[in-house]
Amino acid sequence: MCGIVGILGSKPVAMDLVDALRRLEYRGYDSAGIATVENGHLERRRAEGKLRNLEHRLLEQPLSGLAGIGHTRWATHGRPTERNAHPHMTPRVSVVHNGIIENYRDLKAELSAAGHTFESDTDTEAVVHLITHELDKGQQPIAAVQSALSRLQGAFALGIIFAGHDDLMIAARQGSPLAIGHGTGEMYMGSDAIALAPFTDTITYLDEGDWAVLRRTGVDVFDRTGQSVTRPQVKSVASALLVDKGNHRHFMAKEIHEQPDVISHTLANYLDMGAGTVNFPDLGIDLAKVERVTISACGTAFYAGLVGKYWIERYARVPVEIDIASEFRYREAPLQPGGLALFISQSGETADTLATLRYCKAGGQHIASIVNVRTSTIARESDAVLPTLAGPEIGVASTKAFTCQLAALACLSIAIGRARGTIDAAKERELVTALTEIPRLISTMLRDESQFEALAHTLSKARDVLYLGRGINYPLALEGALKLKEISYIHAEGYAAGELKHGPIALIDENVPVIVMAPEDDLFDKSISNLQEVAARGGQIILISNADPEKAGCKLAAHIKVPDAHDFANPLLYAVPAQLIAYHTAVIMGTDVDQPRNLAKSVTVE
Ligand code: AGP
Repeated sequence: MCGIVGILGSKPVAMDLVDALRRLEYRGYDSAGIATVENGHLERRRAEGKLRNLEHRLLEQPLSGLAGIGHTRWATHGRPTERNAHPHMTPRVSVVHNGIIENYRDLKAELSAAGHTFESDTDTEAVVHLITHELDKGQQPIAAVQSALSRLQGAFALGIIFAGHDDLMIAARQGSPLAIGHGTGEMYMGSDAIALAPFTDTITYLDEGDWAVLRRTGVDVFDRTGQSVTRPQVKSVASALLVDKGNHRHFMAKEIHEQPDVISHTLANYLDMGAGTVNFPDLGIDLAKVERVTISACGTAFYAGLVGKYWIERYARVPVEIDIASEFRYREAPLQPGGLALFISQSGETADTLATLRYCKAGGQHIASIVNVRTSTIARESDAVLPTLAGPEIGVASTKAFTCQLAALACLSIAIGRARGTIDAAKERELVTALTEIPRLISTMLRDESQFEALAHTLSKARDVLYLGRGINYPLALEGALKLKEISYIHAEGYAAGELKHGPIALIDENVPVIVMAPEDDLFDKSISNLQEVAARGGQIILISNADPEKAGCKLAAHIKVPDAHDFANPLLYAVPAQLIAYHTAVIMGTDVDQPRNLAKSVTVE
């Protein structure tokens, strides 16, 4: 989603703003721009498409000024054109915005009637004219912004600079994250600490409803009522090296290869591997008394939750309700007070997941979250946080965050099972040992990617691809299909293998590759029956399995050999071939692997 940055600097800021925006590219965007104030005068440069277009524009028409704001835009209101790109401005004020102003139509009508002329199709421009309107009435910038903020409905992170004020920037957050960076004689603001990493590692995160007045000497923070508040300064771990791809061509490849390490770190956070026991943090709720778990998440995180449902129900014998956050929020599901509601999110900022969390909180649920960004809003609004130790995930397509979410969920299922007595000490040791093996087995798979490259050549010619899985492999089939369509743009769908004959089998012909995820577990024979149903209709079958390919009993277009592992831990292992298949197919297709079209890393609008 949109990224915003701001710098009150001691030297010209234009190129530093672009540098900071580059670090926000991973969030997804389709246009970019910056504005500066110099000798009291506001000016801006904007460009459609990638940041290099903005850089070209700046080479042709440089922008000086020691203070400025910048923006990468992921279009919500209005096409991704230069006209709609941020910053938006009048001669008096310039604004960058992440989020959606829900009442912009009313504001626009009111301000147009008052004589303001709008030049874009965006919701953001209403903010610019609202502040200008207040300034025109004689208000000073701080008071003008405060009045404007009280009129805004929706979600926003805002960065605002003013004509006539070279040492003033105002930042405000409601629903979208915002970090303030402290420098020496310089101040910064940005959508996240990663954007500010080249300049400072001293960060203040604004709370919901906060707004901040920045000057080069420091920052004053106010809450939504206008009370001055103190928010702590923290040291950010987002080092300047974070945008480094290492020896890899793409962040996604780097992140796939980091999995053995980051899964180990995540497991070590929840397990005593030596003792073969779970060592779970106190969730503030008695796990022995948990009668129901409600899981909510979006996209890949939702599929992790679906795997979690299979684990928790099977091993801890607790019923799990799971739904996509954007659906859960509005279907008015009855909630039993005291229940455990679990939210899963890499970014910890996904608007739908956050809204559902708040709905569940209001419904008396005990809130736990599995998040990768510990400083995120979802983490901060949870009663208990189960961190994934994946490190920053830059590729839009989630890989290492997914497997770390699975690692945390696997440990949670053992912890609940132990507390409820459905798992004894011997079983606990068996399951913990199974998880402990996973990093090594993934390393083995990552040693040679030639089988994935070969398969990618076949898939890159396909128009449609189906993924099939049974039982706990069903969510992995969904995730495999999502990964493939996200980055290769090939139409792909995941189905429960047993469901195929109830409709999707009509799609099968010799042009449709069907990828079957079938570890040799207790459902293997049933998966093979489904596979043969596909073979009988001429589908090209790709089997991902530890089993001898002969056991498929039919001709395979390809067999991806997966190492043997315990059934319990298999989901962590089978996630990896799906990632590699998508990655290599996208590379052959020549798509923008790390920033696929139309997608945003952190989806902060509902
Ligand atoms: C994953 O590849 C996706 N880009 C997407 O589905 C993502 O998992 C989803 O938007 C949820 O994000 P979150 O984990 O940050 O909440």
